[in-house]
Amino acid sequence: MDIQSKLTRLKQQLNSTTQSNGYNTATINPSTINSLVSTPSLTPSSTPAVVPQQYYDPALFPEYKEFTTMEWFYEKQNYTQNLFRKHAGASGATVSIDGRELINYSSYNYLGLANDPRVKKAAQTAVEEFGTSTGSGRSITGEVAPHQEFEREISEILGTEDAVLSVGGYSTNTFSIGYLCRAQDLIIYDELIHNSALTGCKLAGSRRFSFPHNDYDALENLLATHRSNFERVLILTEGVYSMDGDIPDIPRLIEIKQKYQALLMVDEAHSMGVIGPNGLGVTDYFKVSGKEIDILYGSMSKAFGTCGGYVAGPKPLVTILKHYAPGVLLYGASPTPANTAAGLETLRIMRSHPKLAQRVQANAAYFIEKAQAAGLNTYNSKGSGVVPIMTQDSELALWLSVTLFDQGICTYPMLYPIVPRDKSRLRFFINTNHTREQIDYTIDCIVNNLRVAPPSQGVM
Ligand SMILES: Cc1ncc(COP(=O)(O)O)c(C=O)c1O
Repeated sequence: MDIQSKLTRLKQQLNSTTQSNGYNTATINPSTINSLVSTPSLTPSSTPAVVPQQYYDPALFPEYKEFTTMEWFYEKQNYTQNLFRKHAGASGATVSIDGRELINYSSYNYLGLANDPRVKKAAQTAVEEFGTSTGSGRSITGEVAPHQEFEREISEILGTEDAVLSVGGYSTNTFSIGYLCRAQDLIIYDELIHNSALTGCKLAGSRRFSFPHNDYDALENLLATHRSNFERVLILTEGVYSMDGDIPDIPRLIEIKQKYQALLMVDEAHSMGVIGPNGLGVTDYFKVSGKEIDILYGSMSKAFGTCGGYVAGPKPLVTILKHYAPGVLLYGASPTPANTAAGLETLRIMRSHPKLAQRVQANAAYFIEKAQAAGLNTYNSKGSGVVPIMTQDSELALWLSVTLFDQGICTYPMLYPIVPRDKSRLRFFINTNHTREQIDYTIDCIVNNLRVAPPSQGVM
């Protein structure tokens, strides 16, 4: 195939991916494009290689050019660089940056527990008792009591048989999916599924399809057509969608997975600790048992206020992950004593203080009500702690976030490639400690700013 035909094919692939795959355009990055354009030959070559500089100088890599274009735009607009900004103290409903106290909507710390004295004490005690590192992987000498206590207590809360706690949120999702599914298996995921799950799908090497967001008829169609051709079939959903803030219909998904003898995995990164009358995630929200869902995955960096990831589910499945899945426990170090003890303490507080989650829900409902009354578009958000304000334009989202920052409000723009360009937005993480006054002020600022927003120049 000549280069022109390859480029045409590439454009077609990009277009079709954008249409059918929603946000997953994020996975098409410049290096993917390069690998599609040039198919290296393995025929031995007798001539010495003349390698163009762009293949060994990272400064010429297209990914870096993309980054420097963004930097150039910031500079041109006179925007202060807002990435990797240092903050002082803890980040919760407020955050201190460059000596200014801002209302903060960029922290995952939904319940404010990352700065709770009980949680900090638990982490300090664990450091005193076990040191700063276990010095090993869990199955060798990296095991400490809080690992097992956390797993026992999360299983009890979720109604699952067992659980495994691992060192990273992203990596636990990726490596669990990557190990459980194989070439002879099929993964079907909601088009808005998180990147950590998509990376797991790629690692698995399984066939994969996405279905339009929350379109369960489309999911059923895919299963009716393809189920019989595969061994294991895994359905992936989130408990709360991290960009849109909506909650999928878990009972319907359970029904479907049972009908087609598939496995259902729910990513509870943004649902555990936040949704449901007791704030205990999708099982609490929908009054279903954890036994009805095959894999409940959670991140420890959101409501848990620490770091790591867990998978809860049937004993055989957890056993497989514990003993064989590279990167879950195998070939890696165990979660630190401090992180684990902090997570265990937040789990106990979550369980005994449902008001923390109820306040997130009430604050989010208030935020949405105020925003909608002011004519703002909060898109699909309902019942969770994630609320987008849609701008549909990258430059407007960026300008708005920079302007709000100057007005004492910290929120980040969600831009391509995280979301499609025409779905740019500001994302607000609602915190249990936000006050009504802070929310009122925020909505007023957004509305007033939008009245004087500069027109987009079509650069980003
Ligand atoms: C839906 C979802 N899943 C998984 C993760 C990964 O978790 P962590 O940030 O703890 O690595 C995130 C992180 O933002 C997320 O939003």
